Amino acid sequence: MSITSITPELEKINPAAADFLPLLGTDYIEFYVGNAKQAAHYYKTAFGFQSLAYAGLETGVKDRTSYVLVQDKIRLVLTTPMTKDDPINDHLRTHGDGVRVIALWVDDARKAWEETTQRGAISYMEPTVEKDADGEVVKSGIKLYGDTVHIFVERKNYHGTFLPGYKPWKSAYNPPTTGLKYVDHMVANVGWNQMNKWVEFYEKVMGFANLLSFDDKDISTEYSALMSKVMSNGNGRIKFPINEPAEGKKRSQIEEYLDFYNGEGVQHIAVATDDIVKTVRDLMSRGVEFLKVPSSYYEGLLERTGPIDEDLAPLAELGILVDVDDEGYLLQLFSKPVEDRPTLFYEIIQRKGAKSFGKGNFKALFEAIEREQESRGTL
Ligand code: FE2
Repeated sequence: MSITSITPELEKINPAAADFLPLLGTDYIEFYVGNAKQAAHYYKTAFGFQSLAYAGLETGVKDRTSYVLVQDKIRLVLTTPMTKDDPINDHLRTHGDGVRVIALWVDDARKAWEETTQRGAISYMEPTVEKDADGEVVKSGIKLYGDTVHIFVERKNYHGTFLPGYKPWKSAYNPPTTGLKYVDHMVANVGWNQMNKWVEFYEKVMGFANLLSFDDKDISTEYSALMSKVMSNGNGRIKFPINEPAEGKKRSQIEEYLDFYNGEGVQHIAVATDDIVKTVRDLMSRGVEFLKVPSSYYEGLLERTGPIDEDLAPLAELGILVDVDDEGYLLQLFSKPVEDRPTLFYEIIQRKGAKSFGKGNFKALFEAIEREQESRGTL
């Protein structure tokens, strides 16, 4: 994929976004975890990710171990520290398991670093060339909210399995995939009054545009509220909604996250499927836990959404939510947090034309989250 081939799209999809930072897609998401071997087993067993690559003692890496998993266009890296003094320990002590790196695939990692740091980004990694027998990769990085970072990955001169230093991971245990295809969007939770700061960061530093905004009237229940703005790059492939808490009678899910994560970070990763009924049924049978809306949600649903291709019965059985916008509809469902701290969770989404984020489901969804908070004593 060359940069020029997506330039007309830049104007078509998001004319307000600047193209000084062309992004080809999400390259990988790296988590810092307490036990990468067991986390990898979970993502294979529960979510159907496949073994791709490995770095650790056997490949000459002494301070950390990383497992790389793949499913269609989604790549996850699970990394754990091997020594007591490794700085990854600080990340784990503070946040628990969580997302450290949102890596973005670029054509020119040096230019990406120059353009963003010139515009005020704080450098995390100066442009660095990594080589092995399969070629070379250029990486650079900038700091984000909390301890999260973006790494820009230029891999046009690399033909290996993942990145230099990794070897292919051949495993005898290979559960089938669950139909997850690509990262649709990734959502950040930031602190009180910090949303606009990070909206501005994505506008000025990354050339993104604000696609949609939700205020606390859009996103509130009887008890809690939040605000959200969706940032998108020019070709629309990268979308980062940013949430901040708003005043409510009780503690919002965003405050709960900030308390347990001890700061700002990635709240959820939305992954796309072409067949949400099949995917969700599969995930549930493998032990992934999802939020449940009351069955009353499905009463009169089709009057609210208009006709949809899917039968209502399996949607109601699995608790899948439906929302419409001007361009079509979408189906979505949210997992419970995937670690013991109520922090990161997943969204499964199938888009049937809709480019929005399920505004019509916010209330039912947040009431479901509040029931979970209640059970944790954190509402
Ligand atoms: Fe989402």
